[in-house]
This record gives sequence, C-alpha cells and structure tokens, in this order.
Amino acid sequence: MPTVRFATPADDQFVEDLQALAFGPGRFARTAFRVRERFPIDTTLSLIAEVNGQACGSVWMTPISVGGIDGYMLGPLATHPDFRKRGAGKMLAKEVSRIALERGKGSFVLLVGDRDYYCPLGWVPTQLGAIEFPGPVDPSRVLVYSNDPTMAVRLAGPIKAFGAGRRS
Ligand SMILES: CC(C)(COP(=O)(O)OP(=O)(O)OC[C@H]1O[C@@H](n2cnc3c(N)ncnc32)[C@H](O)[C@@H]1OP(=O)(O)O)[C@@H](O)C(=O)NCCC(=O)NCCS
Repeated sequence: MPTVRFATPADDQFVEDLQALAFGPGRFARTAFRVRERFPIDTTLSLIAEVNGQACGSVWMTPISVGGIDGYMLGPLATHPDFRKRGAGKMLAKEVSRIALERGKGSFVLLVGDRDYYCPLGWVPTQLGAIEFPGPVDPSRVLVYSNDPTMAVRLAGPIKAFGAGRRS
C-alpha cells in the first residue's frame, strides 16, 4: 500500500528522472508544460508517493486562475513503471487536490488527462473549448475537480496567474 508525503529538495533528482522516464523528451512541448513555464509551481504542494519507504511517484501543482477564479492545475503526475497499479497515482491525485482545496485559497483543480482515469476520482469534463490554454489541447480531456458542482460550467477564458481576477 503506497503512502504519500510532501516532497523536499532531496527529491528533486528523483522527480526529474521520473518525469523524463514517464513523459520522454516530448514533455517540454506539452501544453501543460507551457502553463508551468509561465506560472511557477507551488512547491509546498509537491507530493511524493512511497512504497516501503522507496519513492515511486510524484505530483506537482501550479496555482492559476481562469475567468477570475483561483485554482490549481495538476501535473505532471507520474508513477515509476516498477510501481504502477498499486494505487500510488490515484492516491497522489486525490491527496494533492484535497490538501490544495483545504487551504481555502483556490477552488478548483484543473488537469488535462484521461477521463477513464480521473472521472472515477471526482473530476468532471469542462465546457468544450471554454478554457483557453497556451497551446493545443484536446478539449474533451480538460477536466476539473471542485467542491462547487457549478465550477465545470463556470470556468471560461484564458489561464492566468493565481490572483489575476482579484487584482484587475
Ligand atoms: C498514469 C499513471 C500516473 C498511473 O499511475 P499508477 O500508480 O499505476 O496508478 P494507480 O495504481 O492509482 O491506478 C492504476 C489503474 O489505472 C489504470 N490506468 C492507468 N493509466 C490509465 C489511463 N491513462 N486511462 C485509464 N486508466 C488508466 C490502470 O490500468 C490501473 O487499473 P486497475 O487498477 O484496474 O488495474 C502512470 O501510469 C504513469 O506515470 N504514466 C505515465 C505518465 C502519465 O501518463 N501521467 C498522467 C498524465 S495525465
């Protein structure tokens, strides 16, 4: 059974190697990567999954806003191939979202991912094409998790910095 803990700087090399393994060299061309290039990740929300004390998975969160509503973009999420199908990936996604929303500053967790993986965890599809990414995405893979059931229909507009709505 995996466990989850906060990442420390000592995990940086593991996470870099894991992301390279899981996503390959093409990861820098991904639209999600472009979002993280513009808006820094919140390292206090970086989590590591472990099995028997060995790091095996990682997830990051990027604070963003859409249409004046603050939230987070989840990703990359990756589990080492030797440790897949033990629940680490789902545990990381659920835990990081719970912790982030409990902080009370952001009210949604957006991601680009497979419906079959994320919808059983509580993510729902957004309005097709409503959220504008800084690059191409398959709009049917843009999913959101929120305690507010109306969030999926409310989110529209370009991805901006966390707090952008409050400042304008
Ligand atoms: C996707 C990933 C994080 C899953 O990690 P994991 O630790 O194996 O996940 P879990 O153990 O929590 O869940 C595994 C289950 O999800 C299923 N699953 C894995 N990827 C899936 C996908 N893309 N779509 C649907 N189901 C998927 C597995 O078949 C397995 O099903 P089972 O429990 O019925 O056997 C991992 O495969 C990975 O790192 N992949 C490469 C990077 C990636 O694609 N990340 C996600 C980006 S959105």
